[in-house]
Amino acid sequence: MAASTSTLTIKDLHVEIEGKEILKGVNIEIKGGEIHAVMGPNGTGKSTLSSAVMGHPKYEVTQGSITFDGENVLEMEVDERARAGLFLAMQYPSEISGVTNAEFMRSAINSKREEGNEISLMKFIREMDKKMELLEMDPDMAQRYLNEGFSGGEKKRNEILQLMMLQPRIAILDEIDSGLDIDALKVVSKGINEMRSSDFGCLIITHYQRLLNYITPDYVHVMMQGRIVKSGGPELAQRLEAEGYDWIKNELGIEDETVGQEA
Ligand SMILES: Nc1ncnc2c1ncn2[C@@H]1O[C@H](COP(=O)(O)OP(=O)(O)OP(=O)(O)O)[C@@H](O)[C@H]1O
Ligand SMILES: [Mg+2]
Repeated sequence: MAASTSTLTIKDLHVEIEGKEILKGVNIEIKGGEIHAVMGPNGTGKSTLSSAVMGHPKYEVTQGSITFDGENVLEMEVDERARAGLFLAMQYPSEISGVTNAEFMRSAINSKREEGNEISLMKFIREMDKKMELLEMDPDMAQRYLNEGFSGGEKKRNEILQLMMLQPRIAILDEIDSGLDIDALKVVSKGINEMRSSDFGCLIITHYQRLLNYITPDYVHVMMQGRIVKSGGPELAQRLEAEGYDWIKNELGIEDETVGQEA
């Protein structure tokens, strides 16, 4: 245990939703210190991959494996996955009425700690204030109910606040850039860059190269029809931005179809 860097290993992952196969053999490995970007057309399974890693009950793993530092993630409950150091910023963060943002984050931090070793209220507030300032967030956001009435961009910024407060070892950020104005995009990128260290690995799902101008990924992967069909460096994202996906389909002889449909 306690290896200095963490590794999330996904091998030949097949995932079904209500009997329909969405992921058809995904292979990817994310290590501490690395930033991976996953791009791909709508409906190809990117969010399904993140949900499967976090253990959403609707997503049934029918084949393959997910391990985190050698431990079988598929045998862990959702909260155990979070406690182990996995984090997901969702494409559509949910609203929780009656729980303030600050309460939610404090209890999430404490659930990762041993009993008797909870973060003190003072320290928590100090940390949260500091991070909210870095993310240029209105201090009132701490006392509002989680995501309730937050604008699209505020929700995304708040996901990054959670990321910075929880300090996971591996994070999956699903379209963290969607709906952000140009200044917010820079602020969110600043938050993610602040997290960069050998103890932190990240998988960023995005549609646009734009985000990757601010956060330089080590690897870029293209997902199509439930598989990663191509991997490369940042130049791959630039080519996708310029040319779209057709050239990959041509190169690989992929026919147009909706993922999961029978041929
Ligand atoms: N809970 C669900 N019930 C039924 N179908 C689902 C469910 N979740 C995902 N799907 C289907 O699985 C496929 C992949 O969806 P997913 O959300 O993973 O795509 P995506 O690559 O994230 O797309 P986008 O770029 O639009 O976010 C889609 O056809 C979608 O309709
Ligand atoms: Mg998605």
